Amino acid sequence: MQYVMLTGGAGYIGSHTALALLRAGYQVISFDNYSNSSTAALQRVEQLAGTDLIRISGDIRDEAALSAVFRQYQVSAVVHFAGLKAVGESVAMPLSYYDNNVAGTVTLCRVMREFNVKKLVFSSSATVYGDAKTVPIAETAPRSATNPYGQSKLMIEHILQDLVNAEPDWGITLLRYFNPVGADSSGQIGEDPNGIPNNLMPFISQVAVGKRDKLSIFGNDYPTPDGTGVRDYIHVVDLAAGHLKALQYLETNQGIEAINLGTGTGYSVLDMVKAFSRVNNVEVPYQIAPRRPGDIASCYAMPDKARKLLGWQAEKTLDDMVRDSWRWQSQNPDGYTNS
Ligand code: NAD
Ligand code: UFG
Repeated sequence: MQYVMLTGGAGYIGSHTALALLRAGYQVISFDNYSNSSTAALQRVEQLAGTDLIRISGDIRDEAALSAVFRQYQVSAVVHFAGLKAVGESVAMPLSYYDNNVAGTVTLCRVMREFNVKKLVFSSSATVYGDAKTVPIAETAPRSATNPYGQSKLMIEHILQDLVNAEPDWGITLLRYFNPVGADSSGQIGEDPNGIPNNLMPFISQVAVGKRDKLSIFGNDYPTPDGTGVRDYIHVVDLAAGHLKALQYLETNQGIEAINLGTGTGYSVLDMVKAFSRVNNVEVPYQIAPRRPGDIASCYAMPDKARKLLGWQAEKTLDDMVRDSWRWQSQNPDGYTNS
């Protein structure tokens, strides 16, 4: 039996991808150290799929733990989500970010090579475009980083490119996600941030459910239609489907490709707040606050390459995103904590 291994499979995007893979008939291994997740997410994935996956508690920096998995199971490909992802924290704790993200990826690739597993789907980010000069952003746009988190993603992209240059029989896709939001339509799995959310959608949801007083909108003087920041929000279920397509692509293709996963449409912070209130019929009190350091005005994808290469495009609407985010939050006000 062949398995797809998901590092970070218990996390927000990993759990949705695990569900999509199980539903498509894949055998799935989740390898996660639960530093930012819990097994509850995987239990719910199994319930939703009506089938089990293999759950392994381990750290991608632990070569022996990884080797044990590859020795025991025949792994055909790895989808690599594991890593740390909070921009602010990365500034305060750069070594943790380089260790988990960069060193972890190098260790993973070394073990993969040892077991001759050379298909890898990597979670990159639109953050590698830095403050892009023009939007929509194509994969060929210049890359840069403004914080250790972004730097770690950029370094990994370079490392994986060098690996393919040296060993052309690898097949690697660098999936550059834009802004993942939403949840499975069951409301059973979703994003469960620790502490105060950094990201817009979980913050809006927590205000709507009464856990926080009001949203601070970081700046209304950007050169955008309503002055608030514009982003390419993408439904996590669409994102998960993109990983299936990437795995299928790697069945017949070698080499390395960077591919944007976005919708191609930008929405402002105010668009998101208004859509959330309208669709879910809930109040989202907000105030205008100063700009957040490091934020950019506008960021959205040119999504054409994913369509041409993978046959993938986002299908969910803005209303789906805000409805599904709210269903998850309202059914699980404390996330997975009490499950
Ligand atoms: P997440 O924190 O929910 O998931 C990451 C998972 O990896 C968690 O379950 C965590 O416990 C695990 N993990 C972390 N370090 C590990 C280690 N050393 N060994 C084993 N497991 C480890 O985050 P997510 O939103 O699902 O993001 C998944 C990936 O996508 C990350 O690499 C992230 O950088 C990238 N990404 C996320 C976003 C976003 O906005 N959510 C945007 C672009 C890219
Ligand atoms: N925003 C607010 N108030 C909040 C949170 C966010 O107004 O409380 C605004 C931001 O200023 C920005 C927009 O909402 O205009 C989106 O902010 P997020 O923090 O949700 O997302 P970012 O685009 O800043 O960053 C996200 C991920 C990064 C990743 C980047 C590009 O958090 O890790 O997308 O992929 F690098």
